[in-house]
Amino acid sequence: MSAPAAQTIRAAVEQVRRRVPRLDARLLMQHLLGITHAQFLADPDRRLSGEQIEAFMTLVLRRERGEPVAYLVGEKDFYSRSFKVTPAVLIPRPDTELIVTLALKRLQTLAWPRVLDLGTGSGAIAVTLACEHPEAAVLAVDVSPAALAVARENAARLGGKVGFVESDWFSALADERFDLIVANPPYVAARDPHLSQDGLPFEPDLALTDGADGLSCIRRIVAEAPAHLVPGGLLLIEHGYDQGAAVRALLAAGPFADVCTWQDLSGNDRVSGGCLAAVA
Ligand SMILES: C[S@@+](CC[C@H](N)C(=O)[O-])C[C@H]1O[C@@H](n2cnc3c(N)ncnc32)[C@H](O)[C@@H]1O
Repeated sequence: MSAPAAQTIRAAVEQVRRRVPRLDARLLMQHLLGITHAQFLADPDRRLSGEQIEAFMTLVLRRERGEPVAYLVGEKDFYSRSFKVTPAVLIPRPDTELIVTLALKRLQTLAWPRVLDLGTGSGAIAVTLACEHPEAAVLAVDVSPAALAVARENAARLGGKVGFVESDWFSALADERFDLIVANPPYVAARDPHLSQDGLPFEPDLALTDGADGLSCIRRIVAEAPAHLVPGGLLLIEHGYDQGAAVRALLAAGPFADVCTWQDLSGNDRVSGGCLAAVA
């Protein structure tokens, strides 16, 4: 097989400019060569071997076919830290930084708080909370053992002290209670056309959709959370841009006070929550 024409970093990235966005081409090249953005910029005329060019073209082809860059490079930045990701976990989204910010604000008001992260996936939320607020005792659950293995690795490499339990939502938690429960459950409805777009087919179904109307996991979490919160404890749930009113209604129908929805940076409803008003 004849070697592709490009021989330098600059030429290789230029050669694929009509196939993938320039940012993606740069990230794939940096990953392949194990270099930083600064090194990429400093040495554009670095010569590539035939194997390196072929490997780059293979990554470009996979990207062109829709595979998310994060899976191709094996990591994704979240709240200023780099998390390992594999196809066993959802790629952490910038929108999810909102629930972290809200949680951290709450944690600042509490001494030695106990925190539960439901559906931890890569551990993005739990590990960030543990790193940013080391006095918190953070427990993270997921029903997927493969996701928990990734989350454990992230906790170890980022230095966040988090306990992990395999659990179908609260089922393995007996009667433990928490000051704060955060959850980013699968909330895309089974028939939502977005599931077949923008790289979502490469992400785990279990992380994206409840297989129903998009609210079934949230209903269960809202119904079961009161038995796992201390009085006054806060439940924060991430949801779809069009689910704010429905989630507020679910919370308000239960023993929750101060029910509220917060918007993400795009101005969309993204997180709703409430405090347990009385002992459940
Ligand atoms: C939307 S992802 C969130 C991942 C991560 N917390 C984040 O924000 O990037 C939802 C997670 O919930 C987990 N999950 C789905 N059903 C579950 C269940 N019944 N019990 C516990 N976790 C579940 C999935 O495995 C997935 O990791």
